[in-house]
Amino acid sequence: MDSSRKQKTKLHLSNLVEKELHGLSPIQTIMKMAENQAIRKMGLHPEEIISFGGGWCNHTAPEELKNAYQTIINDATLFHQCGRYSPIIGDSSCREQICRFEDTIYGLKNLEPKNILLGHSSTQLFHDVLRVVCNPGEPVGFLDPTYANYLNAVKCALPGSPVLFIPALDPMTWTYLANPNKSLEILKQYCAKGLRVLVIPVPDNPTSQIPSKEFLRSALDIITDAGGYLILDHAYKALWFGEMPRCYSWSPVDHDQLITLHSNSKWLSSLGRRLGWVEAHDTVIKGLEKINESVLLSPDSLHSMTTARFLEQTLSDGSLKQYVHNTRKLYEETAAVMMSSLDSLLGWKRLTPDGGLYTCSPTPQQKEPRGFVERLLKATGVLLIPGTGFGPSMNHGLRLSYGTLCYKHDQIIEGIERISQYLSKTA
Ligand SMILES: Cc1ncc(COP(=O)(O)O)c(C=O)c1O
Repeated sequence: MDSSRKQKTKLHLSNLVEKELHGLSPIQTIMKMAENQAIRKMGLHPEEIISFGGGWCNHTAPEELKNAYQTIINDATLFHQCGRYSPIIGDSSCREQICRFEDTIYGLKNLEPKNILLGHSSTQLFHDVLRVVCNPGEPVGFLDPTYANYLNAVKCALPGSPVLFIPALDPMTWTYLANPNKSLEILKQYCAKGLRVLVIPVPDNPTSQIPSKEFLRSALDIITDAGGYLILDHAYKALWFGEMPRCYSWSPVDHDQLITLHSNSKWLSSLGRRLGWVEAHDTVIKGLEKINESVLLSPDSLHSMTTARFLEQTLSDGSLKQYVHNTRKLYEETAAVMMSSLDSLLGWKRLTPDGGLYTCSPTPQQKEPRGFVERLLKATGVLLIPGTGFGPSMNHGLRLSYGTLCYKHDQIIEGIERISQYLSKTA
């Protein structure tokens, strides 16, 4: 082909990609700025960066999980078996063990393997659940703020569907669900206008809050009356700090219109060993099976077979209970270090985490968060996440994650000290 013709060719992509998903989100922009090359360009050393950015856990995975992988890899028959396709709904022994896991750790009774479908991750399954329970163009409801990734997922899964925010964080008082009845009233009004799906991460990202059982129960009742679904995203389920939330033992067998999303990413420190699952009424699971067939065909056999062996052993010998206890205590202690540093060194308003990996604060002097985060990173090497993109209530807010620093509490203190020094110089 002659080169003048080649230059003229413009590659066209779909409207979804070119219009709806165009550009980087504020989180992606900042995460790009924090890549090693970009850090060096700013004249900083990557090893000096203290990151409150990533939404990641960082504790070590259980030794028994590593051993379970090793057993499968070292055994010729098992290794051969994990190279086969699993059923579309997922490996049956893994689904059986997940039922035992939910019962033993969370007291969730009466779940059956037919109520579980395995998939690649909560990210993939969220997308597919939306397509099973909603039609393109129908609205999807979220508390404000919410996990930023959901918003593009709605665009991908349900073209033309609007996102409806139900206020939860009050940006003036920085309180969360301080007036739950008002939020429930707004939910009712949205349902009257056609909303049928409400999504709540429990614990939440970015606020790490867990709504009360009364709030969640009322939300489930309202959405059930509307003939819709309450989707609880339990990506951080194992990381609760106080008393175990009552909704942890709610079963889709008792509540037909409850769908819960799960994954190994956070609790098993398996962000890259991708395995997730959905718990739902078997009608919803059958719908998901249809979507899984064309999206995934077969959930990963190595991860599901390993998870099954790991759960079988550690639920029987009691070590999993201890592991979950130790893990959540580790993050609870890490959150406490973060909160006391914020209080003593910055005095910022912030939310006390009920679980999970985050807190949120208003940007100092109501500054625009993205610019503030960029200037702070350049001047101090400390990375925060701008609230823009998590919902209107966070337009002047910041998300701070302590997840990656769970074994490095001294860095949390140092990072907050650097912010404090920066602010005293720029005030
Ligand atoms: C609320 C929430 N759901 C889901 C995910 C992604 O989970 P997975 O790794 O299973 O895709 C995250 C990741 O940060 C999250 O915060």
